[in-house]
Amino acid sequence: MSGSQQSQQAYEHYHASGHYDRRYPQPNLRVLQLIRAYLPAKGHVLDFGCGSGRYLLPLLNQAGRLVALDSSAAALARLSDRLPPDAVPVHRLTSAGPALAAHVESHGTLDLALCLFGVLAHMPSVDERQRVLQQLHASLHPVHGHLLLSVPNRYRRFWWRQLRTGARIRYQRQVGGESIVLHYQLFDPKNLREELQQAGFVLEQLHAESLLPESWVTRWPRMQRLDRLLCRLLPATWGYGLLAIARVAP
Ligand SMILES: C[S@@+](CC[C@H](N)C(=O)[O-])C[C@H]1O[C@@H](n2cnc3c(N)ncnc32)[C@H](O)[C@@H]1O
Repeated sequence: MSGSQQSQQAYEHYHASGHYDRRYPQPNLRVLQLIRAYLPAKGHVLDFGCGSGRYLLPLLNQAGRLVALDSSAAALARLSDRLPPDAVPVHRLTSAGPALAAHVESHGTLDLALCLFGVLAHMPSVDERQRVLQQLHASLHPVHGHLLLSVPNRYRRFWWRQLRTGARIRYQRQVGGESIVLHYQLFDPKNLREELQQAGFVLEQLHAESLLPESWVTRWPRMQRLDRLLCRLLPATWGYGLLAIARVAP
């Protein structure tokens, strides 16, 4: 089984067991605030790798149309259970490629694309990441479209494993008595900028996604306050994750 198949299988169990939602029950409010600032009222937004919707659900009252894309059927099923019956249209897709192209053809370009908390990092090859980034680029409005993307920071994450395998990590975690395997490509600011540029994006801002581990920040409100302060004081390069704000180059 390839690395990405193994990660997909892992997420199926991670979401179906409810363990992901227990570990990350809330959005990171600092990141949500940034998303809100880039999403026009009644805007069209894609959440690529949305999981069960911790970022997408709070946007229902601001967006006019949403696309929830995740390769995990269990994630999309959990999202569907959480959607209020009177919600604005939420299109659910399990892959990009032709399905996303057809969506843009029917409903117009996106104002904002999200690809948050390591989704891109689960794609093992540069070619696969470029295919996705280039499609996001082509799907965004050419003048005001923005991409908010976050990836694990190689200066902060798994450094003891990097001694053996470099920036490509295989990580095993116990989820409800079962062992799941996730594969990550770690990033630093330089290679993140390069991959975005190669796909036609201009990196406008680089933030720390959080300074404290994401699971602390999303589980405990006091940690959110401390994390907000740390993010103000410390450079983005110290972030647990790197959060890029990129626009479509003219
Ligand atoms: C770490 S979770 C992030 C979920 C959500 N963005 C969040 O912030 O909680 C990664 C998600 O990406 C999805 N994923 C991984 N590879 C994918 C791919 N190639 N296409 C679509 N979704 C993918 C997984 O199923 C999983 O739900």
